[in-house]
Amino acid sequence: PLTTTGELVARAAAEGRGVAAFNVITLEHAEAIALGAERAGTAAVLQISENAVKFHGGRLAAIAAAATAVARASSAPLSLHLDHVTDPELLRAAHAEGFSSVMFDASKLSYADNVKETAEAVRWGHERGIWIEAELGEVGGKAGEAPLDAHAPGARTDPAEAAAYVADTGIDALAVAVGSSHAMTERTATLDHDLIRSLRQAVPVPLVLHGSSGVPDPEIRQAVASGMTKINVGTALNTAFTGEVREYLATHATGVDPRKYLTPAREAMAGVTESFLRLVV
Ligand code: G3H
Ligand code: ZN
Repeated sequence: PLTTTGELVARAAAEGRGVAAFNVITLEHAEAIALGAERAGTAAVLQISENAVKFHGGRLAAIAAAATAVARASSAPLSLHLDHVTDPELLRAAHAEGFSSVMFDASKLSYADNVKETAEAVRWGHERGIWIEAELGEVGGKAGEAPLDAHAPGARTDPAEAAAYVADTGIDALAVAVGSSHAMTERTATLDHDLIRSLRQAVPVPLVLHGSSGVPDPEIRQAVASGMTKINVGTALNTAFTGEVREYLATHATGVDPRKYLTPAREAMAGVTESFLRLVV
């Protein structure tokens, strides 16, 4: 069934476990995430990024309708979340399309501008019952930007600043920079667990780990134990998806039916989803 991100994250935080959120690009992603959640017997977040909306020609309605239909039909509780929104217009569109939650990303701006824009988004969203996640201390490696060194000392969220940011903006969850980086295809990141514990102490709202595809299993498990709640996974699904497509195409020189390679690709994504879900609970 369709549920809300706020509810899933609040319950996970109260129980000291994590909830995994997966990026949806195609219908097959949504189907795979639902399948993985059903197999793991747990809930998950289906998240659609601003970049994925752009990929669909800016038509949020189409991919949102597909993901919503998949969530409603699933036996697993699934919520719909709009991820990495920088355009306030898209925030308004999210409300129109029935999203219960949005990650508003002003992390590239100065602290003052980030606070100002995010607080405005929170005001607008809360009046309409939308749960808002925001980011402080940019997690690098977002689409279209040069890869940032995940271990660079600059790419870290300061606990005192984080506490002020949450108070000044009124957000419901905070994405933090603790050593992970977006779009990693190998799981080689190491997290700053002392910092995660300090942030957990300093910040009254659930914490979100972005770029989890590059984080090894034991590091993710430890991050959840240290107080990280929402675990965002995108690239790992695409690595599995593309690996299957590549293998099919390499061994079937004349095949043209996309279902022949999308079937194993979807199955591989379901497997990745299931293992991340089992890891964080
Ligand atoms: O918001 C999405 C996540 O941070 C995904 O990051 O693709 O590196 O797993 P990832
Ligand atoms: Zn992210």
